[in-house]
Amino acid sequence: MTVSSMLSLYHIDDLLNALIDHSLTSVMITKAESDTPIVYVNDAFTDLTGYQPDEVIGKSPKLLQGPDTDQTVLDRLRDDLAAGRTFEGQAVNYRNDCSSFDMFWRVFPLKDDDGKPVYFVALQENATH
Ligand SMILES: Cc1cc2nc3c(=O)[nH]c(=O)nc-3n(C[C@H](O)[C@H](O)[C@H](O)COP(=O)(O)O)c2cc1C
Repeated sequence: MTVSSMLSLYHIDDLLNALIDHSLTSVMITKAESDTPIVYVNDAFTDLTGYQPDEVIGKSPKLLQGPDTDQTVLDRLRDDLAAGRTFEGQAVNYRNDCSSFDMFWRVFPLKDDDGKPVYFVALQENATH
């Protein structure tokens, strides 16, 4: 069952926007090109990291990383994205006030008709207990 097939009285675009705007989970979308520049973040991203959209649009998600970020997790992410696989992982990330937290995030590609990734979508949560 897909949500769009069940809500015939509502535009799927409006539903998608409402879901992302009201999501408690941080959503980040990047271009699928070198250094994956950020094209979109939702309000939950700002709540999680302290960064406003205009501070991160056009930049690499690497801005969230710092000295304690686990490089082996990032290497696995790079390999998963190159292979077209969905990635899940956890690593230390840093807010714009330099405080750290454990980020748990999942990244998956949005592909064109030829199967080539056009965007990457990340769903991100604070995993600090
Ligand atoms: C959509 C997307 C979201 C990402 N989100 C995060 C994140 O929240 N935290 C993080 O440490 N790295 C994140 N990254 C990973 C870095 O941008 C980068 O891909 C990773 O450090 C590997 O870099 P490399 O290919 O230069 O080795 C994200 C990458 C993508 C494509």
